[in-house]
Amino acid sequence: MKKSIALLPGDGIGKEVVEATVEILKAIGEQFNHQFQFNYGLIGGDAIDQKGNPLPEETIAICKESDAIILGAVGGPKWDHNPVELRPERGLLALRKELDLFANLRPIKTFESLLDSSPLKKEYVDGVDFVIVRELTGGLYFGKPSERIVRDGEDAVVDTLLYKRYEIERILVSAFEIAQKRRKHVTSVDKANVLESSRVWREVAEEVAARYPDVTLEHMLVDNAAMQLIRSPRQFDVIATENMFGDILSDEASMITGSLGMLSSASLSSGGLHLYEPVHGSAPDIAGQNIANPIATILSAATLLRQSFGLEEEAKAIEKAVENVLNSGKRTADLAEGGKSISTKQMSEEIINALADDQ
Ligand code: NAI
Ligand code: MG
Repeated sequence: MKKSIALLPGDGIGKEVVEATVEILKAIGEQFNHQFQFNYGLIGGDAIDQKGNPLPEETIAICKESDAIILGAVGGPKWDHNPVELRPERGLLALRKELDLFANLRPIKTFESLLDSSPLKKEYVDGVDFVIVRELTGGLYFGKPSERIVRDGEDAVVDTLLYKRYEIERILVSAFEIAQKRRKHVTSVDKANVLESSRVWREVAEEVAARYPDVTLEHMLVDNAAMQLIRSPRQFDVIATENMFGDILSDEASMITGSLGMLSSASLSSGGLHLYEPVHGSAPDIAGQNIANPIATILSAATLLRQSFGLEEEAKAIEKAVENVLNSGKRTADLAEGGKSISTKQMSEEIINALADDQ
């Protein structure tokens, strides 16, 4: 297979973790006979310094010419005092808008050998394996009006939770498609006892579910979902939810696995050009030291192979290699709890060796 991948390393450890991930993709390409072409683009602080724009036109063009996108992270103290339009995160927000990246996927999976990293008890988090599918471009975060107003002569404020029906439908379709390839269970999370938008969400969920007879649909109220995530997280396979509920639940769920350095994500677009990135930021405190954990980005790349290129075997090979390396006790500093650790580059090499061993 011949495919091109846009690489937007960004700032801080973004560069280091993307470089480590490229090495894995090259190894996979060799092992499975694929030609991956890499197209580098600037985004974030570096782009501001070099082009005066956190998302230069060339970068958008590079993305649009590619079959999928990998992003590191943007931001750093150097640009913290810039005016809003010259802030690194503007680049990422603009790219999400430009590509209509409406579905954010966050897989939450515990690794056997890292069960002690979770603040939750081992017996609750062992075997957890689910995906949160969060709507990313609508809902309360984008609805208008969103402003200070006067109501009945009083100072007041309004935000608007607005969804077009097709926006609810497409996010649920994504969730069902994903569930079909997994354990075939969708938990649709809403607040239908209070919100009209949630009642329509439920209606649409039922309509979509009828098209996927092999997938079970369950409705859950968001407050209950917040509790269930801690009480019995193994019950979940795919969670589908609106923007703000998803924001809160995905941060809550990230603690099931314990380390920010392990969490991958994918953002799916309406046009089919999807973006894959680690959940963490540019980590200025450890940038440039070759100690960042590259696994979040490497697992994001595995999701890319599965989701964008349909390369299930290759994706599984990476996930298995990561698991094997962790089982062998190798750790980057964030996971080593003060014990012996290996560098970003060494972690990448270990994973490549594990790929080869497994052939
Ligand atoms: P952060 O995720 O960059 O770092 C939080 C803590 O986790 C730090 O102590 C860091 O060293 C550690 N950490 C993060 N990723 C790690 C990894 N792969 N390996 C080992 N340790 C890791 O979040 P923070 O500090 O709030 O933000 C730093 C900068 O990153 C800011 O400029 C922020 O705006 C930006 N940021 C960018 C994001 C993105 O590009 N998607 C997301 C979150 C923050
Ligand atoms: Mg958040």
